[in-house]
Amino acid sequence: QKAQIGVTGLAVMGANLARNFARHGYTVALHNRSVGKTDALLEAHGSEGNFIRTETLQELVDSLETPRRILVMVKAGAPVDAVIEQLVPLLEKDDIIIDGGNSYFQDTRRRERELAAQGIDFVGVGVSGGEEGALLGPSIMPGGPAKSYDALGPLLEDIAAKAEDGKPCCAWIDTDGAGHFVKMVHNGIEYADMQVIGEAHELLRAVAGIEPAEQAEVFEQWNTTELGSYLIEITAHVLRQVDARTGEPLIDVIVDAAGQKGTGRWTVQEALELGSPVTAIAESVFARALSSAEPEMRLEAQRVLPAGIGGTTEDVVHDPEFVEDVRKALYASKLVSYAQGLDMLTMAGAEYGWDLDLATIASLWREGCIIRAQLLEVIMEAYQGDAAPANLLFAPQFVAAIEDALPSWRRVVARAVERGIPAPVFASTLNYYDSLRRPRLNAALTQGLRDYFGAHTYRRTDDAEGVYHTLWSGDRSEVIA
Ligand code: 6PG
Repeated sequence: QKAQIGVTGLAVMGANLARNFARHGYTVALHNRSVGKTDALLEAHGSEGNFIRTETLQELVDSLETPRRILVMVKAGAPVDAVIEQLVPLLEKDDIIIDGGNSYFQDTRRRERELAAQGIDFVGVGVSGGEEGALLGPSIMPGGPAKSYDALGPLLEDIAAKAEDGKPCCAWIDTDGAGHFVKMVHNGIEYADMQVIGEAHELLRAVAGIEPAEQAEVFEQWNTTELGSYLIEITAHVLRQVDARTGEPLIDVIVDAAGQKGTGRWTVQEALELGSPVTAIAESVFARALSSAEPEMRLEAQRVLPAGIGGTTEDVVHDPEFVEDVRKALYASKLVSYAQGLDMLTMAGAEYGWDLDLATIASLWREGCIIRAQLLEVIMEAYQGDAAPANLLFAPQFVAAIEDALPSWRRVVARAVERGIPAPVFASTLNYYDSLRRPRLNAALTQGLRDYFGAHTYRRTDDAEGVYHTLWSGDRSEVIA
């Protein structure tokens, strides 16, 4: 019997996806560079379904029905190219190589182009949900050639998470790097979600004096509101955890230096290229960098830099209203960060010629992935139908939500600033919001200055066509540039 799918790279994500396929009745061919991992997987979980053990890529290829579907689950970057290079000579026209790692979408675009020339379908697939998602049902964002989805889609949809309406959290996104692009932005939003949760946590403690165990209850309660989501749920778990060694809350013994593997950074780099103002994601990436890049500088800053906080504001206020303010600020900031991320997808669609359907993308994020949340159901609904909003915030239900949250949001940001408590995403999303709706921005002065020092020209409010320059170093009359 031949296998319907092969998996090479049996670290935890690869192994769990392979098991997920097997549990859904597929025969799965297994390959790993060192056969020990393959045998370990078979020994621990071989009874879960039909597996074919292979030792070489040739054996893997020979064990598969055609067109072959080979899922590559190796580290993003050079290892993916290395596996492709070894596989391609063994494959036939219309075989499909699937990259399920967190690959950089430009690499995926290049690989798809190169392999298309050899008749091989290369499919970059975003997979979210961590280890558990991979096993029990991830959110899956496949790109690649449209025709590849005929042979591949049904398998992926089978193993994907299912939303409440029964629909699989898997749908073809668009050609080439679109799947990995959408996964990258998912991760950017994941960074922002975690950062605003962190800011809320810090404010609850520093301003309202709520200690971690009690905060766990606050987050648990928030999880029953419109904030309901996986990340809020697990925040309660992390905050409740007590360190066995010290008896202190675990959160207090974890070093406050955040790691990152690159997808958030890529999102921001690409946003800079596109000119897409994803301020929440950018602040989140920089917050991680500030936490970890130069620890000595942080220590010196504590010694030499003044706080500049006056008088009574240091007091802790046990104020339930403040807690509710933080909850609303968190929701509003989260909405803005999603609006920014989705707007980035729209801009990328225009740049790369992808037809990115935001209702579908939101629907894929409803279950299985790290940012899964009730909000995504509402976002999906906002983009369904003909009158999709130009910006998520314009959807009537979100206009109302923001209106309700605004006074709280402003109070929280003001309090954080007064007290010297960093809240970069709460603040930057509010700044974005205020900028977006501002009738005139100070960009006019920027243009004036650019024209002054570099003759960079400007446009006039009373002339839609013309480009102007003032003769700053001459008689200061205006000329048409
Ligand atoms: C997911 C996660 C997953 C991974 C992140 C972590 O969607 O399942 O995003 O892909 O945990 O890449 O990223 P950092 O290490 O950069 O925080």
